[in-house]
Amino acid sequence: MAVTSILSRVFTLSFLIFLLLLISPSTAYSRKACQSPTRNPLQGCPKNTLLVGPSQKHTTVQSAILNLPNNTTPYTILVLPGNYTEQLNITRPGPLTVLGQTTHPNDATKNSVNIIWHNATGTATTGTYDNAYTSTLTIAPTLNSSLTGSGPTGNTVPAGTPFGNTNFRAYNLNFINAYLPYSAGPSLALSVSYANAGFYYCGLYSYQDTVYVGKLGNAYMYSSIVGGQTDFLYGFGTLWVQSSLLQLRGCGGGVTAWKGSNTTFVNKYGVYVHDSEVRKANESLQIEGMCALGRPWNAQHRSIFANTYLDDSIRPSGYIEWSATDPRVNYNTTMAEYHDYGPGFNLTGRLQAANITIEMTAAQYAPYSTVDKVFQYPFSGKFGNTAWIDRRPEA
Ligand SMILES: *[C@@H]1O[C@H](CO)[C@@H](O)[C@H](O)[C@H]1NC(C)=O
Ligand SMILES: *[C@@H]1O[C@H](CO)[C@@H](O)[C@H](O)[C@H]1NC(C)=O
Ligand SMILES: *[C@@H]1O[C@H](CO)[C@@H](O)[C@H](O)[C@H]1NC(C)=O
Ligand SMILES: *[C@@H]1O[C@H](CO)[C@@H](O)[C@H](O)[C@H]1NC(C)=O
Ligand SMILES: *[C@@H]1O[C@H](CO)[C@@H](O)[C@H](O)[C@H]1NC(C)=O
Ligand SMILES: *[C@@H]1O[C@H](CO)[C@@H](O)[C@H](O)[C@H]1NC(C)=O
Ligand SMILES: *[C@@H]1O[C@H](CO)[C@@H](O)[C@H](O)[C@H]1NC(C)=O
Ligand SMILES: *[C@@H]1O[C@H](CO)[C@@H](O)[C@H](O)[C@H]1NC(C)=O
Ligand SMILES: *[C@@H]1O[C@H](CO)[C@@H](O)[C@H](O)[C@H]1NC(C)=O
Ligand SMILES: *[C@@H]1O[C@H](CO)[C@@H](O)[C@H](O)[C@H]1NC(C)=O
Repeated sequence: MAVTSILSRVFTLSFLIFLLLLISPSTAYSRKACQSPTRNPLQGCPKNTLLVGPSQKHTTVQSAILNLPNNTTPYTILVLPGNYTEQLNITRPGPLTVLGQTTHPNDATKNSVNIIWHNATGTATTGTYDNAYTSTLTIAPTLNSSLTGSGPTGNTVPAGTPFGNTNFRAYNLNFINAYLPYSAGPSLALSVSYANAGFYYCGLYSYQDTVYVGKLGNAYMYSSIVGGQTDFLYGFGTLWVQSSLLQLRGCGGGVTAWKGSNTTFVNKYGVYVHDSEVRKANESLQIEGMCALGRPWNAQHRSIFANTYLDDSIRPSGYIEWSATDPRVNYNTTMAEYHDYGPGFNLTGRLQAANITIEMTAAQYAPYSTVDKVFQYPFSGKFGNTAWIDRRPEA
């Protein structure tokens, strides 16, 4: 064999290895090693990891966020145990992973990092005060794109607004809006618009409007806990809740309140709860048969609870109308279930009490049965782009 041919083979091989390195996921480190407490906390963490802790250079998470370049380079932030009273705003497009230090990386009930804020829309003293201002964590490219607005299509986002973060991931963090321990106006723990965001082993706690997934927002939750009382999953975007706990802290409105608009039809917008549990927070809550799975924020509401356990807090009817005088239910409204079970699943009630909940057939459910089918924007490939979802989150 000619020397040039061998050289060319060696060159081709090194080029292939280089390509492999280039496309290998940024999570090719041990999350467990990075998150476990060690003498040097950053031991086991990927390069480009910033440390946040009570006696570190960055004592707040937002201080580390503000230190990140506004580009597409991946970064990680490791947060040491503590209670951080602050709001976090993530505008950068590049991948960002925020990890809470923990010895239990696969258990959201043992998180030791709490990000806490205490605002509600109703606390505004002057002018209009959009729900966006209340959120503990906001992931959106601009303030304007995160605004809820009002009316059937909500806030009009300026044309040409770029997509924000393409790959945000949070592990073992609690985001808490502790405004008051009951529904007292919109008080968000999370707001995602024009961005892709994944939450793994996280806690999101408030009472009203806990999670907002806004215009062109894509959010995925896995093995996480979302606590709320009123309309606590709401928005225009697309949210997939997988193998998680929806914790009822009382009843009001519904668990879900979704709205379709002309800017959301590019996606299979809606809220999809899969293989999860809906349970009251504790046994002292007297809410048997009182909580609704959802209500239509507008008639294009779309939500599906699939293969999900419902405790006895859920009403026989499942879903409800927006209100008696303003039902907001028509041919376009999708308030559905597929193979739910548990004491809160009352088939007779579903069919008779209000006749508002759709019990989907396999064929009706099929278009919404996987994340690849519902997350369609930004477009990439046949089934959209879901590379931002961590498919193997266990540490
Ligand atoms: C970040 O960069 C983008 C693209 O260059 C730009 O549109 C945006 O205004 C920048 N954001 C900040 C906060 O500087
Ligand atoms: C955070 O606050 C809670 C409630 O006040 C407290 O139980 C916990 O010990 C605090 N965590 C840390 C790490 O200080
Ligand atoms: C928002 O929350 C912060 C931090 O808890 C608090 O200091 C501030 O008074 C709150 N503002 C409003 C308008 O409620
Ligand atoms: C986050 O964004 C909200 C809404 O724009 C704003 O009120 C708040 O001051 C921002 N907080 C930080 C820490 O940037
Ligand atoms: C958001 O953008 C829209 C459209 O450009 C504009 O009408 C509106 O005033 C903006 N809102 C804020 C709070 O900047
Ligand atoms: C039960 O949960 C509710 C709602 O979060 C809370 O207000 C109440 O304090 C809890 N009760 C007990 C005994 O933990
Ligand atoms: C959506 O509808 C609103 C209100 O009718 C309109 O102002 C806006 O231009 C529409 N946006 C798109 C993307 O069609
Ligand atoms: C259903 O939604 C489509 C798309 O927005 C709309 O054109 C149609 O008028 C809606 N139908 C009803 C009955 O609201
Ligand atoms: C189921 O719903 C029916 C019709 O509303 C009602 O009569 C019945 O009591 C419900 N069963 C339970 C266990 O709630
Ligand atoms: C429930 O609604 C469907 C569709 O609107 C209708 O065909 C059916 O007759 C209704 N059933 C009852 C018991 O009202």
